[in-house]
Amino acid sequence: MALPTVTVIGAGQVGATTTHLLALKGLANVILIDIVDGLAQGKALDLMQSAPIEGFGGSIQGTTDFNAMAGSRLVMITAGLPRKPGMSREDLLAANANIVGPIASRMASAAPEAVAIVVTNPLDVMVAFTLQRTGWPRQRVMGMAGVLDSARLRVLIAERLQVAPSQVHAMVLGSHGDLMVPVVRSVTVDGRPITERLSPEELDRLFQRTRDGGAEIVALLKQGSAFYAPATGVVAMARAILQNTHEVLPVCASLEGEYGLRDACIGVPAQLGAAGIERIVEMELTAEERRALQAAAEQVRASTKSLSTLVS
Ligand code: APR
Repeated sequence: MALPTVTVIGAGQVGATTTHLLALKGLANVILIDIVDGLAQGKALDLMQSAPIEGFGGSIQGTTDFNAMAGSRLVMITAGLPRKPGMSREDLLAANANIVGPIASRMASAAPEAVAIVVTNPLDVMVAFTLQRTGWPRQRVMGMAGVLDSARLRVLIAERLQVAPSQVHAMVLGSHGDLMVPVVRSVTVDGRPITERLSPEELDRLFQRTRDGGAEIVALLKQGSAFYAPATGVVAMARAILQNTHEVLPVCASLEGEYGLRDACIGVPAQLGAAGIERIVEMELTAEERRALQAAAEQVRASTKSLSTLVS
């Protein structure tokens, strides 16, 4: 069966790792685009030379030509600056909006039928901005953060309880930042509620470490931000879309009344398939979690509004 074409924009840490995983998993032929001449071409050649060793059949093509994304089923936007130690994701707002805005416009004309997954930070605002710039329906524009944030929490709980990470399930909603909303009821170990194993204080401590998970890595790396787990997260979303699995994953989506919220892009569980977001799943939340989700939506809405003064 012919592989679908996927474009990855930004051939940096996240983009190149995403491309590698897409190829290794046999999910797509990849067009890798970067603004820096030679970068995407060089990485594409290097990645392609692993094909006979790994035995994957897809192609990887690097280019600076944005028109090369024509015909792509899926476009992933990973172009933009990563954080430096001490920076919040919000500090990237103006710089990354000025990168993502023109990319979204080019994507809308070169690949008008594609589904887009945004990875560039600050994630939720970049999703809202991509929706604005493309004018695409909300089903076709989403962001990757919840899969990553949920995985971070699962690993922390697994380490604390000395179980395999795959035995732990969790959904982290809200914004990809300080207003992340881990849903207590969603956290289970071997199908049992986490509240049977950990005290509320200990859970709060792990939730906070999850919120700070990206900053912890930025501080250790001193240059650049996390990319292995983010790339894995975006590829999990890509697989659900490309293979039409109808899997429910936490993704950043535009809300139109779900959870009582509108005009905001934040992390919620969504069923993904060939059309993109097929359905937003409304989990039962506590009053406190609902308030936290609302606060996240308000912050994203305010940052999105501020873009009009920041974008040149
Ligand atoms: N068009 C295409 N590529 C661009 C553009 C542009 N207008 N502007 C920058 N890039 C490219 C850079 O040349 C670089 O290769 O985006 C790439 C970004 O790569 P890295 O600096 O390695 O950053 P990375 O770690 O991949 O993170 C990218 O994802 O997780 C988020 O916060 C992170 O916003 C950041 C983004």
